[in-house]
Amino acid sequence: MAPVAQATTRAHAPARMSAAERFGVLEHPDLSYTPAVARETEHLHARVKQFIPAIEWPVYAPYVHAINRLKKQRGAVILAHNYQTPEIFHCVADIVGDSLQLARDATKVDADIIIQCGVHFMAETSKLLNPEKTVLIPDAKAGCSLSDSITGADVRLLKERYPGVPVVTYVNTSADVKAETDICCTSSNVLSVVESLESDTVFCIPDEYLAMNVAKQTKKTILTWKGHCEVHERFTANELLAYKESHPGIEIIGHPECHPDVIAVCDFSGSTSGMINYVKDRRPSRVLLVTECSMASNIQAEVPDVDFVKPCNLCPHMKRITLPKILDSLVTMTEEVLVDPAIADRARLAVERMVNLKQ
Ligand code: 13P
Ligand code: SF4
Repeated sequence: MAPVAQATTRAHAPARMSAAERFGVLEHPDLSYTPAVARETEHLHARVKQFIPAIEWPVYAPYVHAINRLKKQRGAVILAHNYQTPEIFHCVADIVGDSLQLARDATKVDADIIIQCGVHFMAETSKLLNPEKTVLIPDAKAGCSLSDSITGADVRLLKERYPGVPVVTYVNTSADVKAETDICCTSSNVLSVVESLESDTVFCIPDEYLAMNVAKQTKKTILTWKGHCEVHERFTANELLAYKESHPGIEIIGHPECHPDVIAVCDFSGSTSGMINYVKDRRPSRVLLVTECSMASNIQAEVPDVDFVKPCNLCPHMKRITLPKILDSLVTMTEEVLVDPAIADRARLAVERMVNLKQ
């Protein structure tokens, strides 16, 4: 009998309309490089001309122009992580930032549609904080090695094995994992989140290196998981020491997803925005950012007096997001990010606890 009852319930449940059905699909815009497009995008090219020479701009400009026009027509806002390429970061994004800033700003956006230029967990976080809004990601395959390293079932097992130990989960995780979590953190607030908990022992998962780095700054015992960022784990202390030798006076600043041996040879460590602020405020004459490639390019134009040495690594997931895919999202209203309602409320609580934490 049970299967029949289930089938009846499903048949009576109202079918969910897709974003394309709710908002409609537009005609694909003409992508010619006309004199009008050239004129209307000139000021945007000025922001990225160090990376996109004038001869290549006619390839980018029609996309930039069409995206900015359709974004207004749709009433959409584009959120972009600091690792997005310069033409996305400087020419079409409305809000840019690190994971924490994007999560915070996602709660303040006054638009029905959010286009998340970043990886999937970031789009999911925006959806958790804006359940009534439509969140689109230009490529749903934009994943993250940290997020892929752990499942909700893994966290349930950890909690069974270590009852009473609070679980701090890095925001680079799926909603399923966040739902099993006491509170989320990002690289910019991990220490304050850990310190905010009463327990002397705390799980800080899934990034082993972030946990090891925070363990050096707190008296608490930190338990962790064996997840790694495939971009930051490639940097080595020896490689950086060689740069120090060949470039006397260079300042090296690293992301806390790097191994503690790497952070030990850095002059500063912080979130992606923390690193950007360090460069903008301190204006080192020469700097090396131990992080994803696009970061240096995104700030270079704003600090022309700083010489960037770039032994950077690419995040293949972040690089899945491109101008043609952003345009496609706006035209077809895909790919919509949805979170299973059964886990969304618990996952949201963990993110909201983090966002509301006084720092
Ligand atoms: P931030 O929170 O510092 O922006 O880091 C996100 C990330 O994915 C770094 O690899
Ligand atoms: Fe994930 Fe690393 Fe890419 Fe950041 S840089 S999204 S942590 S794989």
